[in-house]
Amino acid sequence: MSTQSSVSDSEIIVARDRVETLRAEILRHNHLYHALDQPEISDADYDELFAELKRLETTYPELASDDSPTQTVGAPPGRTFAVVEHRLRMLSLGNAFNADELLAWRQRAADLLDREEWTYVSEPKIDGLAIALVYERGRLVQAATRGDGRAGEDVTANLRAIDAVPNELSGNPPPLFEVRGEIYMPKAGFDAMNAEIAAENERRREEGRAGLTLYANPRNAAAGSVRQKDASVTATRPLSIGVYQLGWCDDAVTPDSHWETLGWLAEFGFPTTPEAAHHDGIEDALAACEHWTQRRDSQAFEMDGVVVKVDDLGLQADLGIVGREPRWAIAWKFPPQEASTVVEQILVNVGRTGSINPYARLRPVRVGGVQVTNATLHNLDDIRRKDIREGDTVVIRRAGEVIPQVVRPVLERRPDDSSEWQMPTGCPGTTCGELGCTNEHCGGDRGIIDICEGTWCGGTVSRQGDDADFYCDNPHCPAIVQRAIEHFASRGAMDIRGLGEKMIRLLLREDVIHDVAEIYSVADRLQDPEKREKLARIRGLGQVKRRKGEEIYEVGDRLRNLAAAIERSKSRGLANLLIGLGIRHVGGENATLLADHFGSLDAILGAEQDALAAVEGVGPIIAASIRDWASSEENRDLVKRLKEAEVEHTIQRTEIEPQEKPYDGRRFVLTGRFADMTRPQAEAQLKSLGAAVGSSVSKNTTALFAGEAAGSKRAKAESLGIRIFDEDRLQEALQDPAAFLERLTEEEPAGAI
Ligand code: IVH
Repeated sequence: MSTQSSVSDSEIIVARDRVETLRAEILRHNHLYHALDQPEISDADYDELFAELKRLETTYPELASDDSPTQTVGAPPGRTFAVVEHRLRMLSLGNAFNADELLAWRQRAADLLDREEWTYVSEPKIDGLAIALVYERGRLVQAATRGDGRAGEDVTANLRAIDAVPNELSGNPPPLFEVRGEIYMPKAGFDAMNAEIAAENERRREEGRAGLTLYANPRNAAAGSVRQKDASVTATRPLSIGVYQLGWCDDAVTPDSHWETLGWLAEFGFPTTPEAAHHDGIEDALAACEHWTQRRDSQAFEMDGVVVKVDDLGLQADLGIVGREPRWAIAWKFPPQEASTVVEQILVNVGRTGSINPYARLRPVRVGGVQVTNATLHNLDDIRRKDIREGDTVVIRRAGEVIPQVVRPVLERRPDDSSEWQMPTGCPGTTCGELGCTNEHCGGDRGIIDICEGTWCGGTVSRQGDDADFYCDNPHCPAIVQRAIEHFASRGAMDIRGLGEKMIRLLLREDVIHDVAEIYSVADRLQDPEKREKLARIRGLGQVKRRKGEEIYEVGDRLRNLAAAIERSKSRGLANLLIGLGIRHVGGENATLLADHFGSLDAILGAEQDALAAVEGVGPIIAASIRDWASSEENRDLVKRLKEAEVEHTIQRTEIEPQEKPYDGRRFVLTGRFADMTRPQAEAQLKSLGAAVGSSVSKNTTALFAGEAAGSKRAKAESLGIRIFDEDRLQEALQDPAAFLERLTEEEPAGAI
């Protein structure tokens, strides 16, 4: 027996095993997704299984098989509906996950066609379900789902009940033809429908009846709505359609290109895919894909990619089909925003107001190009409603820039010994919650390393009225104290550089400060030899020097800079001080209104509730909250100490003059990374100078500020002839608006940035 052949034999055996497992898994998921509308795994995880199977079948051609899921589409029709054979197979699409893959697709087509240039059409890939509609003499006579591509389900009655699907066509349509399109549920309709189901469930719960299942996403909702037994239920669902293809057509002259076909179909009254675009070359089509990747959330419907199609139908025919995919189209897929992973632990942290906020510590997973380890769980009601437990496999979703959310558990994978999560009875304070922490209150007995720098609180936890949150009852809770100081020092309030979360934790732990007022005695405390020695011994804060055998403690630059920043913060002004106090509901806008109206902290805190509520833009809730805060002895003492520290707490009347708004009526957009400031910082400053700051470039944009790695916005601005400036000019715009405005009126020099 030769070693060579035994290695490759065993390799094949292993590969065959894996191929069989993958096929079975994929078929099971196809059924769950297409027939039951109840997927267990995310699209991204499915794509991964599918790609692995495809790879193995390519590497080991002897394992290929006609009935592999890579050669068929979806799942065969179920038993509820009559079966409809498609006259022309309904296909699927190959994927491109990046520019190289899109260009490789074009190259393959170029090689087959033996030409380099042709035009393209791009369309949003709507996340719904494919449908084939047959019209005879202008009337809808049959509607079928895709099924396995060869045969689908007859859902004619249901499709007739959808307003967006024309029952009768206008104009002069061909006598008999089929169109294809995507049935979808717009996001707003989906939210409203799920809210209704939740309300119905509330009623049912009160009556002790079982609840209805909420739909996981708009696509499942659309699929579930189309596959209702009773068409009158479908009729109530907010469904739309985007028609994207002429399937087949008898006895009529049809357009020669896809682009013209879309226009032609629209004339008969079909809503065609919104936002379709025609492109002269692949670069242009690629720019559209990149544009949509940035703006995937901008449409009323959910899109999971962009479909790029060869425009010329003659070329489409030449390119043909391979397996279940046409060679003339490809789906540009967005980085996945959903993934499944395991909830390792459910932990809580404590907010500034003392709210106890549960979150899930996840087995790390990549979602939308970002590694995710935590997801918010909102509150106990939400955890119960979604039924999320420790140890669960869950689907998580990341939308835009927001914190990841846990969408739902995969109940089939729930461990047998799982139990409902309980809200802790003792407040954890600032314990770190890291897995592996040995703090007995933190990672508990799972601990292996001592990493927790937090302080345990242990206060009781309770719920107030019908508030969804639980709160810590201990007014001296270390977490509340820590968060209050963090808030006071934050940029929107007293803006004390160098006084961040870690430094505050250190100063609290070393007994240097205990509340916000004591921040102002840090400098004094540094004078105290005993305190100074303590701080100087802390790594990074100071140093211990030896002179003539004597130890001398010196504080380092970090502390000296901090002391200077604290000093500077004294003159931030009344509105910022008011924000810094962290009175519930008192934020940027109304703090300024209150400061302007009353002119001093004493006047605000001493005002009657009615007088506070009478200030325009303030109102009774904020007024009551201020009264409540001011009635506390402890808070009054805090204010007294802040005043003693000479923190500015009144407004000089001259300051109340209306602020200058040099950019009134101007509209700016920022894109890319800036070296010296974050985008939100720059945006806030521009706004404070009267500018409107938009998120997308349009013809109304005054100018675009483009930092490092600016993408499609820059291209858009160029195409619209909008002025584009770099970071230096942004600095000028912030520091010297007059100079910048002058620059704006200047003729743009050729080749200007
Ligand atoms: S063209 C050969 N255009 O994506 C298939 N499909 O993954 C021609 N889809 O089955 C499809 N929006 O359900 C096309 N603008 C669009 C689409 C679109 C969504 C769906 C369709 C198709 C699936 C393929």
